[in-house]
Amino acid sequence: LPLAEGMDIERITALPAVAEAARSCLTCAMAHHATQTVFGEGPTTASLMFVGEQPGDQEDLAGRPFVGPAGQLFDRALHEVGIARDDVYVTNTVKHFKFFNRNDRRIHQKAGMEEIRACAPWLHAERRLVRPRLLVMLGATAASAILQRSVVIGRERSRPITLDDGTCGLVTVHPSFLLRQPTEDARSREYLRFIEDLRLARSLITS
Ligand code: URA
Repeated sequence: LPLAEGMDIERITALPAVAEAARSCLTCAMAHHATQTVFGEGPTTASLMFVGEQPGDQEDLAGRPFVGPAGQLFDRALHEVGIARDDVYVTNTVKHFKFFNRNDRRIHQKAGMEEIRACAPWLHAERRLVRPRLLVMLGATAASAILQRSVVIGRERSRPITLDDGTCGLVTVHPSFLLRQPTEDARSREYLRFIEDLRLARSLITS
């Protein structure tokens, strides 16, 4: 695994210390452009972990994951199925916002292999220290980084998958996929499917 500034992340035994170390990570180019590292948040004892893609514009400014439009939709969906956001651990595959500038706006750029590989030790440490009962992969970037192969969401969503460390995993769509639906109909249909996946997630940690 690539190490941040020669640091042995594997030997860090507390999550706040990992988060602190990640704040000074300069392994990928994004570290030089983004406002700050956006590390995961939530209790170390969480039985449910969600992994997204990367922080967006608002997350980059706030320093917290899933607080922008996708995050607000995610919160609403969690609330609807009776999962408290404070009880779950929420993080991203990549901890820095990747973007390009267009007319003074910062436009999201898909995280690539370089960033995913550079950030892998951080996500690995989060998984090792939180040890969730269920890890939910939100979208293709998280799913392919964690399953270490290319993933077609439509083929793999909504069923439990055993991960390399024995943890139970579940693939679903990214909440921003719901925001991108072209019609109101499609949006509510996809939102309901997402809610069903969250219900399944809840049942997998309570059974
Ligand atoms: N999208 C993500 O994947 N993560 C965030 O934190 C926000 C938006």
